Amino acid sequence: MKKILITGGAGFIGSHVVRRFVNQYPDYHVFNLDALTYAGNLENLRDVEDASNYTFVKGDITDAAFLDALFAEHDFHGVIHLAAESHVDRSISDPLAFVVTNVLGTVNLLNAARKAWKGDLENHGATNRLFYHVSTDEVYGELHDPNEFFLETTRYDPRSPYSASKASSDHFVRAYHSTYKMPVVISNCSNNYGPNHFPEKLIPLMIHNIMQNKPLPVYGEGENVRDWLYVEDHARAIDVIFHKGRRGETYNIGGHNEWKNLDLVLLLCKIMDEKLGRPQGTSEQLITYVTDRAGHDLRYAIDATRLKTELGWEPSLQFAEGLEKTVDWYLTNQEWLTNVTSGNYQKYYEEMYGN
Ligand code: NAD
Ligand code: DAU
Repeated sequence: MKKILITGGAGFIGSHVVRRFVNQYPDYHVFNLDALTYAGNLENLRDVEDASNYTFVKGDITDAAFLDALFAEHDFHGVIHLAAESHVDRSISDPLAFVVTNVLGTVNLLNAARKAWKGDLENHGATNRLFYHVSTDEVYGELHDPNEFFLETTRYDPRSPYSASKASSDHFVRAYHSTYKMPVVISNCSNNYGPNHFPEKLIPLMIHNIMQNKPLPVYGEGENVRDWLYVEDHARAIDVIFHKGRRGETYNIGGHNEWKNLDLVLLLCKIMDEKLGRPQGTSEQLITYVTDRAGHDLRYAIDATRLKTELGWEPSLQFAEGLEKTVDWYLTNQEWLTNVTSGNYQKYYEEMYGN
Protein backbone atom coordinates (compact mmCIF):
# COMPACT_ATOMS: atom_id res chain seq x y z
CA MET A 1 0.00 0.00 0.00
CA LYS A 2 1.36 3.43 -0.95
CA LYS A 3 1.34 5.94 1.88
CA ILE A 4 0.18 9.45 0.94
CA LEU A 5 0.53 12.41 3.30
CA ILE A 6 -2.10 15.13 2.90
CA THR A 7 -1.53 18.26 5.02
CA GLY A 8 -4.42 20.53 5.99
CA GLY A 9 -6.90 17.73 5.35
CA ALA A 10 -9.30 18.92 8.05
CA GLY A 11 -9.79 22.27 6.32
CA PHE A 12 -12.14 23.27 3.53
CA ILE A 13 -10.38 22.06 0.36
CA GLY A 14 -8.22 19.49 2.15
CA SER A 15 -11.25 17.61 3.47
CA HIS A 16 -12.61 17.20 -0.06
CA VAL A 17 -9.19 16.01 -1.27
CA VAL A 18 -8.88 13.51 1.60
CA ARG A 19 -12.39 12.14 0.96
CA ARG A 20 -11.66 11.75 -2.75
CA PHE A 21 -8.36 9.93 -2.20
CA VAL A 22 -9.72 7.65 0.56
CA ASN A 23 -12.74 6.66 -1.56
CA GLN A 24 -11.11 6.44 -5.00
CA TYR A 25 -7.84 4.77 -4.04
CA PRO A 26 -8.23 1.80 -1.70
CA ASP A 27 -4.61 0.89 -2.47
CA TYR A 28 -3.40 4.16 -0.91
CA HIS A 29 -3.21 4.74 2.81
CA VAL A 30 -4.09 8.40 3.36
CA PHE A 31 -2.50 10.19 6.32
CA ASN A 32 -4.21 13.48 7.12
CA LEU A 33 -1.81 15.76 9.00
CA ASP A 34 -3.54 18.80 10.47
CA ALA A 35 -2.97 21.12 13.44
CA LEU A 36 -6.75 21.67 13.83
CA THR A 37 -6.55 25.46 13.91
CA TYR A 38 -9.78 27.47 13.96
CA ALA A 39 -10.13 26.55 10.24
CA GLY A 40 -9.77 22.79 10.56
CA ASN A 41 -12.17 20.34 12.08
CA LEU A 42 -12.66 16.61 11.83
CA GLU A 43 -16.45 16.89 11.48
CA ASN A 44 -15.62 17.63 7.83
CA LEU A 45 -14.45 14.02 7.49
CA ARG A 46 -16.95 12.07 9.64
CA ASP A 47 -17.93 9.89 6.67
CA VAL A 48 -14.40 8.56 6.09
CA GLU A 49 -12.92 8.57 9.60
CA ASP A 50 -13.43 4.81 10.05
CA ALA A 51 -12.08 3.82 6.63
CA SER A 52 -9.27 1.26 6.91
CA ASN A 53 -7.06 3.30 4.54
CA TYR A 54 -7.31 6.55 6.53
CA THR A 55 -5.35 7.85 9.53
CA PHE A 56 -5.56 11.26 11.17
CA VAL A 57 -2.38 12.71 12.67
CA LYS A 58 -2.62 15.84 14.76
CA GLY A 59 0.53 17.86 14.19
CA ASP A 60 1.98 21.18 13.21
CA ILE A 61 4.05 21.77 10.08
CA THR A 62 5.98 24.47 11.93
CA ASP A 63 7.45 21.71 14.13
CA ALA A 64 10.41 20.38 12.14
CA ALA A 65 11.37 17.66 14.63
CA PHE A 66 7.83 16.30 14.60
CA LEU A 67 7.84 16.19 10.77
CA ASP A 68 11.22 14.42 10.66
CA ALA A 69 9.93 11.78 13.07
CA LEU A 70 6.74 11.31 11.04
CA PHE A 71 8.70 10.84 7.80
CA ALA A 72 11.07 8.44 9.57
CA GLU A 73 8.11 6.37 10.79
CA HIS A 74 6.28 6.28 7.44
CA ASP A 75 7.73 5.83 3.98
CA PHE A 76 5.51 8.37 2.20
CA HIS A 77 5.20 7.90 -1.54
CA GLY A 78 3.68 11.34 -2.02
CA VAL A 79 2.84 14.54 -0.19
CA ILE A 80 -0.10 16.79 -1.07
CA HIS A 81 0.49 20.00 0.84
CA LEU A 82 -2.55 22.15 1.59
CA ALA A 83 -1.99 23.21 5.22
CA ALA A 84 -1.87 26.99 5.38
CA GLU A 85 -3.25 30.14 6.86
CA SER A 86 -5.68 30.98 4.07
CA HIS A 87 -7.64 34.16 4.83
CA VAL A 88 -6.44 37.44 3.29
CA ASP A 89 -8.09 39.67 5.94
CA ARG A 90 -6.35 37.78 8.75
CA SER A 91 -3.03 38.17 6.91
CA ILE A 92 -3.52 41.94 6.93
CA SER A 93 -3.93 42.02 10.72
CA ASP A 94 -1.30 39.34 11.51
CA PRO A 95 1.22 38.89 8.64
CA LEU A 96 3.79 37.01 10.69
CA ALA A 97 1.45 34.08 11.37
CA PHE A 98 1.31 33.62 7.58
CA VAL A 99 5.10 33.67 7.25
CA VAL A 100 5.42 31.07 9.99
CA THR A 101 2.84 28.58 8.70
CA ASN A 102 2.97 29.15 4.96
CA VAL A 103 6.69 29.76 4.45
CA LEU A 104 8.45 28.11 7.39
CA GLY A 105 5.92 25.24 7.49
CA THR A 106 6.39 24.52 3.78
CA VAL A 107 10.19 24.60 4.07
CA ASN A 108 10.02 22.25 7.08
CA LEU A 109 7.94 19.85 5.03
CA LEU A 110 10.34 20.06 2.08
CA ASN A 111 13.26 19.39 4.44
CA ALA A 112 11.55 16.37 5.99
CA ALA A 113 10.83 14.94 2.52
CA ARG A 114 14.37 15.68 1.39
CA LYS A 115 15.90 13.83 4.33
CA ALA A 116 13.55 10.87 4.03
CA TRP A 117 13.89 10.59 0.24
CA LYS A 118 17.64 11.28 0.19
CA GLY A 119 18.69 8.00 -1.40
CA ASP A 120 16.12 8.32 -4.19
CA LEU A 121 16.95 11.97 -4.82
CA GLU A 122 20.65 11.18 -5.24
CA ASN A 123 20.20 8.06 -7.33
CA HIS A 124 17.54 8.79 -9.88
CA GLY A 125 15.77 12.03 -9.08
CA ALA A 126 13.12 10.23 -7.00
CA THR A 127 10.74 9.64 -9.90
CA ASN A 128 8.76 7.32 -7.63
CA ARG A 129 7.98 10.19 -5.21
CA LEU A 130 6.06 13.44 -5.48
CA PHE A 131 5.82 16.62 -3.43
CA TYR A 132 2.63 18.37 -4.60
CA HIS A 133 2.27 21.97 -3.41
CA VAL A 134 -1.24 23.46 -3.56
CA SER A 135 -1.11 27.18 -4.23
CA THR A 136 -3.28 30.07 -5.27
CA ASP A 137 -3.87 32.40 -8.21
CA GLU A 138 -3.31 35.34 -5.83
CA VAL A 139 0.47 35.01 -6.33
CA TYR A 140 -0.01 36.61 -9.77
CA GLY A 141 -1.43 39.83 -8.31
CA GLU A 142 -4.42 41.54 -9.90
CA LEU A 143 -5.75 42.05 -13.42
CA HIS A 144 -7.08 45.31 -14.87
CA ASP A 145 -7.48 44.54 -18.59
CA PRO A 146 -10.72 42.51 -18.95
CA ASN A 147 -9.15 40.50 -21.79
CA GLU A 148 -6.20 39.37 -19.69
CA PHE A 149 -5.95 36.08 -17.78
CA PHE A 150 -3.37 34.58 -15.42
CA LEU A 151 -1.12 32.11 -17.25
CA GLU A 152 1.44 29.79 -15.65
CA THR A 153 4.05 32.18 -17.05
CA THR A 154 2.51 35.34 -15.57
CA ARG A 155 5.05 37.20 -13.45
CA TYR A 156 4.54 36.81 -9.70
CA ASP A 157 3.22 40.02 -8.12
CA PRO A 158 1.72 39.18 -4.72
CA ARG A 159 0.00 42.17 -3.11
CA SER A 160 -1.22 40.90 0.29
CA PRO A 161 0.74 39.28 3.12
CA TYR A 162 -1.21 36.08 2.40
CA SER A 163 -0.30 35.99 -1.29
CA ALA A 164 3.29 37.04 -0.52
CA SER A 165 3.61 34.08 1.85
CA LYS A 166 2.13 31.68 -0.73
CA ALA A 167 4.40 33.11 -3.47
CA SER A 168 7.39 32.62 -1.20
CA SER A 169 6.42 29.01 -0.51
CA ASP A 170 6.03 28.40 -4.27
CA HIS A 171 9.55 29.77 -4.81
CA PHE A 172 10.95 27.42 -2.16
CA VAL A 173 9.24 24.43 -3.77
CA ARG A 174 10.75 25.32 -7.17
CA ALA A 175 14.14 25.99 -5.55
CA TYR A 176 14.14 22.49 -4.00
CA HIS A 177 13.34 21.07 -7.43
CA SER A 178 16.34 22.78 -9.05
CA THR A 179 18.76 22.45 -6.14
CA TYR A 180 17.98 19.01 -4.71
CA LYS A 181 16.06 17.35 -7.61
CA MET A 182 12.99 17.23 -5.37
CA PRO A 183 10.17 15.87 -7.58
CA VAL A 184 7.57 18.61 -7.29
CA VAL A 185 4.43 19.85 -8.92
CA ILE A 186 2.54 23.09 -8.12
CA SER A 187 -1.00 24.12 -8.90
CA ASN A 188 -2.40 27.64 -8.61
CA CYS A 189 -6.16 27.72 -8.24
CA SER A 190 -8.84 30.39 -8.27
CA ASN A 191 -11.50 30.95 -5.56
CA ASN A 192 -13.20 27.78 -4.36
CA TYR A 193 -16.71 27.48 -2.99
CA GLY A 194 -18.80 24.60 -1.66
CA PRO A 195 -19.63 22.69 1.55
CA ASN A 196 -17.38 23.02 4.63
CA HIS A 197 -16.12 26.48 3.70
CA PHE A 198 -15.33 28.45 6.86
CA PRO A 199 -17.83 31.33 7.23
CA GLU A 200 -15.19 34.07 7.20
CA LYS A 201 -14.94 33.82 3.39
CA LEU A 202 -17.37 35.66 1.12
CA ILE A 203 -19.88 32.97 0.05
CA PRO A 204 -20.36 31.10 3.35
CA LEU A 205 -20.31 34.40 5.30
CA MET A 206 -23.15 35.77 3.17
CA ILE A 207 -25.18 32.54 3.47
CA HIS A 208 -24.63 32.55 7.24
CA ASN A 209 -25.60 36.20 7.64
CA ILE A 210 -28.68 35.92 5.45
CA MET A 211 -29.89 33.00 7.60
CA GLN A 212 -29.29 35.08 10.73
CA ASN A 213 -30.70 38.33 9.29
CA LYS A 214 -27.35 40.04 9.85
CA PRO A 215 -25.73 42.74 7.66
CA LEU A 216 -23.99 41.55 4.48
CA PRO A 217 -20.64 43.42 4.44
CA VAL A 218 -19.64 44.23 0.85
CA TYR A 219 -16.13 45.69 0.65
CA GLY A 220 -15.85 48.98 -1.26
CA GLU A 221 -18.44 49.10 -4.01
CA GLY A 222 -18.52 45.37 -4.66
CA GLU A 223 -16.79 45.82 -8.02
CA ASN A 224 -13.97 43.31 -7.44
CA VAL A 225 -14.08 40.19 -9.57
CA ARG A 226 -13.31 36.60 -8.58
CA ASP A 227 -13.29 33.39 -10.65
CA TRP A 228 -15.26 30.74 -8.73
CA LEU A 229 -14.72 26.97 -8.86
CA TYR A 230 -16.68 24.25 -7.04
CA VAL A 231 -14.42 22.63 -4.45
CA GLU A 232 -14.96 19.06 -5.73
CA ASP A 233 -13.76 20.16 -9.16
CA HIS A 234 -10.58 21.44 -7.50
CA ALA A 235 -10.16 18.12 -5.65
CA ARG A 236 -10.54 16.27 -8.97
CA ALA A 237 -7.94 18.56 -10.59
CA ILE A 238 -5.54 17.80 -7.73
CA ASP A 239 -6.14 14.07 -8.28
CA VAL A 240 -5.39 14.38 -12.01
CA ILE A 241 -2.26 16.50 -11.46
CA PHE A 242 -1.00 14.22 -8.68
CA HIS A 243 -1.24 11.21 -10.98
CA LYS A 244 -0.39 12.68 -14.38
CA GLY A 245 1.28 16.06 -13.83
CA ARG A 246 4.81 16.52 -15.10
CA ARG A 247 7.52 16.87 -12.44
CA GLY A 248 8.71 20.45 -12.05
CA GLU A 249 5.58 21.78 -13.77
CA THR A 250 2.97 24.34 -12.71
CA TYR A 251 -0.73 24.01 -13.55
CA ASN A 252 -3.33 26.76 -13.26
CA ILE A 253 -6.80 25.66 -12.15
CA GLY A 254 -9.87 27.85 -12.61
CA GLY A 255 -13.59 27.89 -13.21
CA HIS A 256 -13.81 30.33 -16.14
CA ASN A 257 -16.57 31.75 -14.01
CA GLU A 258 -16.04 35.41 -13.17
CA TRP A 259 -18.39 37.31 -10.89
CA LYS A 260 -18.37 40.81 -9.49
CA ASN A 261 -18.79 40.51 -5.73
CA LEU A 262 -21.96 42.60 -5.66
CA ASP A 263 -23.61 40.53 -8.43
CA LEU A 264 -22.71 37.35 -6.58
CA VAL A 265 -24.12 38.62 -3.29
CA LEU A 266 -27.33 39.67 -5.06
CA LEU A 267 -27.61 36.20 -6.61
CA LEU A 268 -27.13 34.58 -3.20
CA CYS A 269 -29.82 36.84 -1.73
CA LYS A 270 -32.22 35.73 -4.48
CA ILE A 271 -31.49 32.01 -3.95
CA MET A 272 -31.76 32.34 -0.17
CA ASP A 273 -35.06 34.26 -0.30
CA GLU A 274 -36.46 31.45 -2.44
CA LYS A 275 -35.12 28.69 -0.14
CA LEU A 276 -36.25 30.43 3.06
CA GLY A 277 -39.67 31.29 1.66
CA ARG A 278 -39.05 35.01 2.13
CA PRO A 279 -40.43 37.56 -0.38
CA GLN A 280 -37.90 38.33 -3.14
CA GLY A 281 -35.87 41.43 -2.23
CA THR A 282 -35.85 40.73 1.53
CA SER A 283 -32.23 39.63 1.90
CA GLU A 284 -30.71 42.26 -0.36
CA GLN A 285 -31.85 44.88 2.12
CA LEU A 286 -29.16 43.46 4.42
CA ILE A 287 -26.38 44.54 2.03
CA THR A 288 -24.07 47.02 3.78
CA TYR A 289 -21.15 48.70 2.01
CA VAL A 290 -18.14 48.73 4.30
CA THR A 291 -14.58 50.08 4.14
CA ASP A 292 -12.62 48.35 1.41
CA ARG A 293 -9.97 45.73 2.14
CA ALA A 294 -6.49 47.32 2.14
CA GLY A 295 -4.75 46.65 -1.18
CA HIS A 296 -7.86 44.86 -2.44
CA ASP A 297 -6.98 42.97 -5.66
CA LEU A 298 -9.36 44.06 -8.42
CA ARG A 299 -9.76 40.95 -10.55
CA TYR A 300 -8.55 37.36 -10.67
CA ALA A 301 -9.14 35.22 -13.76
CA ILE A 302 -7.39 31.98 -14.60
CA ASP A 303 -6.46 30.55 -17.97
CA ALA A 304 -6.50 26.79 -17.33
CA THR A 305 -5.74 25.76 -20.93
CA ARG A 306 -2.59 23.83 -19.99
CA LEU A 307 -4.51 21.62 -17.58
CA LYS A 308 -7.21 20.98 -20.18
CA THR A 309 -4.97 20.25 -23.15
CA GLU A 310 -2.26 18.34 -21.28
CA LEU A 311 -4.24 16.43 -18.67
CA GLY A 312 -7.84 16.63 -19.91
CA TRP A 313 -9.31 18.40 -16.84
CA GLU A 314 -12.23 20.81 -17.09
CA PRO A 315 -14.66 22.10 -14.48
CA SER A 316 -17.71 19.83 -14.42
CA LEU A 317 -20.30 21.79 -12.47
CA GLN A 318 -22.22 24.82 -13.67
CA PHE A 319 -22.19 27.69 -11.16
CA ALA A 320 -26.00 27.68 -10.68
CA GLU A 321 -25.93 24.01 -9.73
CA GLY A 322 -22.86 24.40 -7.52
CA LEU A 323 -24.30 27.37 -5.64
CA GLU A 324 -27.58 25.56 -5.07
CA LYS A 325 -25.73 22.52 -3.70
CA THR A 326 -23.69 24.82 -1.46
CA VAL A 327 -26.69 26.73 -0.11
CA ASP A 328 -28.56 23.45 0.52
CA TRP A 329 -25.55 22.08 2.41
CA TYR A 330 -25.43 25.10 4.74
CA LEU A 331 -29.20 24.99 5.29
CA THR A 332 -29.05 21.35 6.34
CA ASN A 333 -25.84 21.75 8.37
CA GLN A 334 -26.67 24.72 10.56
CA GLU A 335 -25.24 22.93 13.58
CA TRP A 336 -21.86 22.79 11.79
CA LEU A 337 -22.06 26.55 11.24
CA THR A 338 -22.90 27.19 14.90
CA ASN A 339 -20.08 24.95 16.06
CA VAL A 340 -17.40 26.45 13.83
CA THR A 341 -18.38 30.03 14.60
CA SER A 342 -18.54 29.43 18.37
CA GLY A 343 -15.30 27.41 18.46
CA ASN A 344 -17.18 24.41 19.91
CA TYR A 345 -15.49 21.90 17.62
CA GLN A 346 -12.10 23.39 18.42
CA LYS A 347 -12.68 22.95 22.17
CA TYR A 348 -13.94 19.41 21.59
CA TYR A 349 -10.89 18.36 19.55
CA GLU A 350 -8.49 20.12 21.90
CA GLU A 351 -9.88 17.97 24.70
CA MET A 352 -9.52 14.89 22.52
CA TYR A 353 -6.07 15.53 21.04
CA GLY A 354 -4.56 18.19 23.30
CA ASN A 355 -3.31 21.57 22.18
P1 NAD B 1 -8.50 26.34 5.26
O1 NAD B 1 -8.08 27.55 6.02
O2 NAD B 1 -9.93 25.99 5.17
O3 NAD B 1 -7.75 25.04 5.84
C1 NAD B 1 -6.39 25.06 6.20
C2 NAD B 1 -6.11 23.81 7.00
O4 NAD B 1 -4.73 23.81 7.35
C3 NAD B 1 -6.91 23.72 8.32
O5 NAD B 1 -7.43 22.43 8.49
C4 NAD B 1 -5.87 24.03 9.38
O6 NAD B 1 -6.14 23.40 10.63
C5 NAD B 1 -4.61 23.49 8.73
N1 NAD B 1 -3.40 24.14 9.26
C6 NAD B 1 -3.20 25.48 9.40
N2 NAD B 1 -1.98 25.70 9.94
C7 NAD B 1 -1.41 24.48 10.11
C8 NAD B 1 -0.16 24.05 10.63
N3 NAD B 1 0.74 24.93 11.09
N4 NAD B 1 0.11 22.73 10.64
C9 NAD B 1 -0.80 21.82 10.19
N5 NAD B 1 -2.00 22.18 9.73
C10 NAD B 1 -2.31 23.49 9.68
O7 NAD B 1 -7.85 26.52 3.82
P2 NAD B 1 -8.44 26.13 2.38
O8 NAD B 1 -9.28 27.23 1.88
O9 NAD B 1 -8.96 24.74 2.43
O10 NAD B 1 -7.08 26.16 1.54
C11 NAD B 1 -6.24 25.01 1.48
C12 NAD B 1 -5.04 25.32 0.61
O11 NAD B 1 -5.46 25.68 -0.70
C13 NAD B 1 -4.20 26.50 1.12
O12 NAD B 1 -2.85 26.20 0.90
C14 NAD B 1 -4.64 27.67 0.25
O13 NAD B 1 -3.62 28.60 0.10
C15 NAD B 1 -4.96 26.95 -1.06
N6 NAD B 1 -5.98 27.59 -1.91
C16 NAD B 1 -7.20 27.94 -1.40
C17 NAD B 1 -8.17 28.48 -2.25
C18 NAD B 1 -9.54 28.85 -1.75
O14 NAD B 1 -10.34 29.42 -2.50
N7 NAD B 1 -9.92 28.54 -0.51
C19 NAD B 1 -7.88 28.66 -3.60
C20 NAD B 1 -6.61 28.30 -4.08
C21 NAD B 1 -5.67 27.75 -3.23
O1 DAU C 1 -8.13 33.23 -5.34
C1 DAU C 1 -7.89 32.19 -4.44
C2 DAU C 1 -8.02 32.70 -3.02
O2 DAU C 1 -9.41 32.92 -2.79
C3 DAU C 1 -7.44 31.75 -1.98
O3 DAU C 1 -6.07 31.63 -2.18
C4 DAU C 1 -7.72 32.26 -0.57
O4 DAU C 1 -7.27 31.31 0.38
C5 DAU C 1 -9.22 32.44 -0.42
O5 DAU C 1 -9.52 32.95 0.86
C6 DAU C 1 -9.76 33.36 -1.51
O6 DAU C 1 -9.30 34.73 -1.31
P1 DAU C 1 -10.26 36.00 -1.52
O7 DAU C 1 -9.70 37.12 -0.76
O8 DAU C 1 -10.56 36.20 -2.95
O9 DAU C 1 -11.61 35.39 -0.83
P2 DAU C 1 -12.66 36.04 0.19
O10 DAU C 1 -13.79 35.08 0.29
O11 DAU C 1 -12.01 36.52 1.44
O12 DAU C 1 -13.17 37.32 -0.61
C7 DAU C 1 -13.74 37.20 -1.90
C8 DAU C 1 -14.06 38.61 -2.39
O13 DAU C 1 -15.13 39.14 -1.59
C9 DAU C 1 -12.92 39.60 -2.24
O14 DAU C 1 -12.96 40.49 -3.33
C10 DAU C 1 -13.23 40.34 -0.94
C11 DAU C 1 -14.74 40.35 -0.91
N1 DAU C 1 -15.37 40.30 0.42
C12 DAU C 1 -14.95 39.33 1.29
C13 DAU C 1 -15.51 39.22 2.54
C14 DAU C 1 -15.05 38.19 3.53
C15 DAU C 1 -16.39 41.17 0.77
O15 DAU C 1 -16.79 42.04 -0.05
N2 DAU C 1 -16.94 41.07 2.00
C16 DAU C 1 -16.54 40.14 2.92
O16 DAU C 1 -17.08 40.11 4.06
